[in-house]
Amino acid sequence: MTDNENLKRILVIDDQKSIHEDFKTIFGEVSESDKELDLMAQQILGAGSKKNSTEIFKYVVDSAFQGQEGYQKILDAKKSGNPYHMAFVDMRMPPGWDGLETIEKVLKDDNDIQMVICTAYSDHSVSDIEARIGITDRVLIIKKPFDKVEIIQLAKSLCEKWFLLQKARMKVEEMETIIQQRSKEIEEIQKQLYRSSKMAAMGTLAGGVAHELNNPMAILLGYVGEVEKNVKTLPINENNSLKKAIEGIRVSAKRMYIVVKELLTFVGENQKEDFIDFKVCDFLDATISVFSKTTLDKDINVIKEYTNSEKLIIKGDNLQLQEMILHLLNNAKDAIAQTPIKTILIKTLTTDKNVQIIIEDSGTPINEDIRERIFEPYFTTKSVGKGKGIGLSVARNIARSHSGDLSLDLVDGKKSFIVSLPLTL
Ligand SMILES: Nc1ncnc2c1ncn2[C@@H]1O[C@H](COP(=O)(O)OP(=O)(O)OP(=O)(O)O)[C@@H](O)[C@H]1O
Ligand SMILES: [Mg+2]
Repeated sequence: MTDNENLKRILVIDDQKSIHEDFKTIFGEVSESDKELDLMAQQILGAGSKKNSTEIFKYVVDSAFQGQEGYQKILDAKKSGNPYHMAFVDMRMPPGWDGLETIEKVLKDDNDIQMVICTAYSDHSVSDIEARIGITDRVLIIKKPFDKVEIIQLAKSLCEKWFLLQKARMKVEEMETIIQQRSKEIEEIQKQLYRSSKMAAMGTLAGGVAHELNNPMAILLGYVGEVEKNVKTLPINENNSLKKAIEGIRVSAKRMYIVVKELLTFVGENQKEDFIDFKVCDFLDATISVFSKTTLDKDINVIKEYTNSEKLIIKGDNLQLQEMILHLLNNAKDAIAQTPIKTILIKTLTTDKNVQIIIEDSGTPINEDIRERIFEPYFTTKSVGKGKGIGLSVARNIARSHSGDLSLDLVDGKKSFIVSLPLTL
């Protein structure tokens, strides 16, 4: 039981002064007799026996002598945060509102208070009363003259009812909050499911198309090689423009071939027979060199912090892994495009069986609301033509197809993209 529950607040609304004294005596006696009981219990059982009966029966009894005054006191008490839990209301209180009018008004403006209407036998019948105030469980009727025990029992159980009502309300509110939270979570999960099922369908489609294109692309490249060889045998002045055209076909076909390969990687198709062993440091140096040659922004400062990488060997498709790192470096480059400090840091760390390649940049942060989505295929914050939104998803697929992973780590606003790959031990 809480502290508040120890104190029951009762309002007596009656035009007769003597009635107020009667109520105060009844409830005063209750408190007094309980204090005595407490004292006795403590004497017999020791000070530790504080199962305090006064905790249960402690009443504050206030008075109002007219219906209107009582109504106002009930509203004021509620406003001040010390509401009355119940009221005894006399039926006849000339010259102002009678008991029924008072109760009608209180029922309208206070949803909690419990009331007892005190009537004489000659007053209204129960059905009359119900006809006036409606059928409610918040108003009980007692007939005069009162019995002291009845009054105490009524007060006890009605105050208890008031507290139970509050607890039930709080529980309902709590449940509503929980339900709202859960509904939000379910909605989010549904959205994610929808997105991933859409992605899965697109993946299957893309995989099918890539398979269909892969062979003709390889054949096309083969023929281009053949034609190139034959063109070389032609006299110099005859083959110049032809050579250029064939070179153009070869470059375009190669680009298409890479796109198809990317798609196959994206849907998880990977030829493990292409995997070879190589040193992490050589691989990173070669990749950074490709990046530096192709990037137009010459102010970028690429810092390397390799740990032990001379000795670190990984197995994989060198070209694909290079492409994975290039995607991360290009993202870093875009992130620092507008910032004064243009630093990209490439670190390696080793754990027991893995190497971590960590790429950090000093550029724009990744907002909380998109962190979950950046690895989704076709998610981009870049303008049309600048970003397709596939860099991170392709990079992650490459890492995963090498039994590794790619993740984003954010500590104190600093972002690191971490590629983890198994070491060849
Ligand atoms: N280093 C980074 N700093 C800040 N934001 C980043 C970084 N890397 C990725 N992002 C965010 O993640 C989004 C998705 O990146 P992702 O590489 O998949 O696609 P993209 O760079 O937009 O386009 P694409 O790589 O296909 O050209 C980016 O649009 C950007 O908002
Ligand atoms: Mg990108």
